[in-house]
Amino acid sequence: MKIDILTVVPDLLASPFSHSIMKRAQDKGLLHVQVHNLRQWAINKQAQVDDYQYGGGAGMVLMCEPLANAIESLQTSTKYDAIIYMTPDGKTLNQQTANQLSLQENLLIICGHYKGIDERIRQRFITHEISIGDYVLSGGELAAAVLVDAIGRLLPGVLNDETSALTDSFQDNLLAPPVYTRPADFRGDKVPDILLQGDPRKVEEWRYEQSLERTKMRRPDLLKGEE
Ligand code: ADE
Repeated sequence: MKIDILTVVPDLLASPFSHSIMKRAQDKGLLHVQVHNLRQWAINKQAQVDDYQYGGGAGMVLMCEPLANAIESLQTSTKYDAIIYMTPDGKTLNQQTANQLSLQENLLIICGHYKGIDERIRQRFITHEISIGDYVLSGGELAAAVLVDAIGRLLPGVLNDETSALTDSFQDNLLAPPVYTRPADFRGDKVPDILLQGDPRKVEEWRYEQSLERTKMRRPDLLKGEE
């Protein structure tokens, strides 16, 4: 999968894909993330990409021209399956959306900054608008990093243990069960016996029950199929 990201602050995205699972995905050639600086398509020598909003009000808006030129220029070499704008007024990201996007070949993610991007770009080019939660960040970059991570780990071959992503929280609308590692006794707090007994079917049943219980207590909305 190829993911292009368009931003005015490329440095914010220098690190998130250079470590751990995202690095491994790229080293294995399963994921290719490329960050593009919108200022490459600035409208003048001052590298301008934003301007005041019509009607007045605080905050700058990313302009149509650089954004349109950037998107169209990137489109000459790549046919995007989705052009995603990260925005707090988008659809809240969940596992189902991450699963669906992980099946695509080529994604373009646009990061807003300041007050966001001109509405006409949203209408003309954007196919998906995604929020990572009901709070406002300074820009879409950290949100884009979250989205790429959520998608990247789902690509076949990225995780060492192939079943690992399937047992994550939110797959099947259930939270993950508790996990334990050594020692079996930590200051008197013991690991549940069933995990030490070596019966995989019983462990599976126990985990399912724990998942269900945890979801009932913490996120009953998931069991009702709400978002
Ligand atoms: N940009 C600013 N805030 C955001 C959010 N919550 N989700 C996605 N993009 C954003």
